[in-house]
Order: sequence, then structure tokens, then C-alpha cells
Amino acid sequence: MGDHVTLPILAETGYAVLDRCEQRVDEREWLDLEYTGWRSSGITRFAPLTSYAGEIECNGFWNHTPPRTDKDGVWIASQAATAPTLARLARAAGANVGRCRVVELQPNVYADAVYNLHRDDNNRLNPDGAGWVVRSMLNLTDDADSLLILRENRFDPATEVRIPLVAGSHVVVDTQRLWHAVWHRGVRPRYALITSWESGEALRVFVGERHGVAHAAPVPLDARMVDDAQAELHRRIEERRRILEALGIGEPIPWLQEI
Ligand SMILES: [Fe+2]
Repeated sequence: MGDHVTLPILAETGYAVLDRCEQRVDEREWLDLEYTGWRSSGITRFAPLTSYAGEIECNGFWNHTPPRTDKDGVWIASQAATAPTLARLARAAGANVGRCRVVELQPNVYADAVYNLHRDDNNRLNPDGAGWVVRSMLNLTDDADSLLILRENRFDPATEVRIPLVAGSHVVVDTQRLWHAVWHRGVRPRYALITSWESGEALRVFVGERHGVAHAAPVPLDARMVDDAQAELHRRIEERRRILEALGIGEPIPWLQEI
């Protein structure tokens, strides 16, 4: 993290659970957005509200010319017009907004979430002295049985934190530090508003006003299921390695995704 400005509350665990967001949002705001497929599983779609230059695309700002860090997202006029409340929520912290998008996630199983654990690349080109970019994760649909999974150590389930995704569930996460994914137990897609926010005084105040806490209440899971998912994680990693090896392809930058 170098000499970046950070949020003190994130120092210990890397996340803060905020008060549930009480803002009501008409589901048309996220259902009527324009979505685009982007990496990950192929069934996950994103609807960007901001992008590098205001186009409907989800590429990292550092992949454009000239490259820049994940800040100063340009609002996409058509999307912001479709989802004005979501745009307001993304601006509510008063922090610099980088990438901002709605994610649509199809139901999956716990082992999928464990395999999908990844860290983000929010701070590429972010200079020392500037604010560390973290992520706001605001659940839009009411997915009380689904869990945001966070791990300090990808391969150690003992480091796992599980946060239920009721409507309005709001978490600020250092997603470049913590491995993260969602286990979505449901029959319909889960929607969430994901925003890159720059750490600084405005965000510190915002998190404080919403009573941010650095420890979520424990959510126990069946130990056998967790063990099985670990085994499946290693099996899939080995399978992927063999496939890439057979194709003569070196592993691309592993487990670092812009989602
Ligand atoms: Fe991510």
C-alpha cells in the first residue's frame, strides 16, 4: 500500500460493514440498464454506470490510452438517466468515484464461490500520497441466504468472513487485499451496485456516520461442505493448469480480475 491514504477502520480486517442502506430503489433502475458480459464466469454480466470515457464498457482504466488509475470515472449519460438513484448512491460518500457498475450474478454453489475468489486491481498507477481505492458493495436484491465471502488467505477457510446479502447490505472492502466472491443461493439473479471509492476524509466520515464495523457476525457453515469446496478448489486449479499447459499457454496474471 506504500504511503497511500487509507481508512483506519480497514486496517485490521480489510472490510467494514455499514448500516443497511434504507434508500428504496425501483428495480427498473437496474433491470433496464444496458449490460455487457465481462470476463469472470461468462454468466456474470455488468452494467457500467461509469467508465474510462463514458462509453458502455468495463475495461480497467489503466488499459486505455492514456492509462489512469481507478478514479475519475466518467458517467455514462444513458445509464445514469436510467438509474438516477443508483448514481446518487454511488456519489453519496463524496469520495472520488472510479469504476461504478451493477453486477448481475446467477445462482451458484459454495464451491463455485470459493473457486471464484479473487482480488481486484484497483490501485494500479495510483501514486503514493493519494487515496487507496476500495470498493463499496451495496446489495440491491434481497438475497438473505446468499453470502459475500471474504478471505485474507485464499487457501485458508479459517480466514473466511461471511456477510449475508439482504437488500441494502452495504460493505466497504479493500478488494485488493481480500479475496472475495459471492455465494448466491437463489433462483433469480442477484444484483449489486459496486463502486470504486478513493479513501480519504470524506469516505472516513461516511463510514463513521453509517456505523461501520470491522467485524461481521459469524455465519457458520457445514464443515464438510467447506472441506469439500477446498478440495474442489485445488482440483479445478490443477485442471486449469493442465489445460493451459496442454495449450502451451502460460498462466495469465492469475486470480486478479477487474470485477
Ligand atoms: Fe472483485
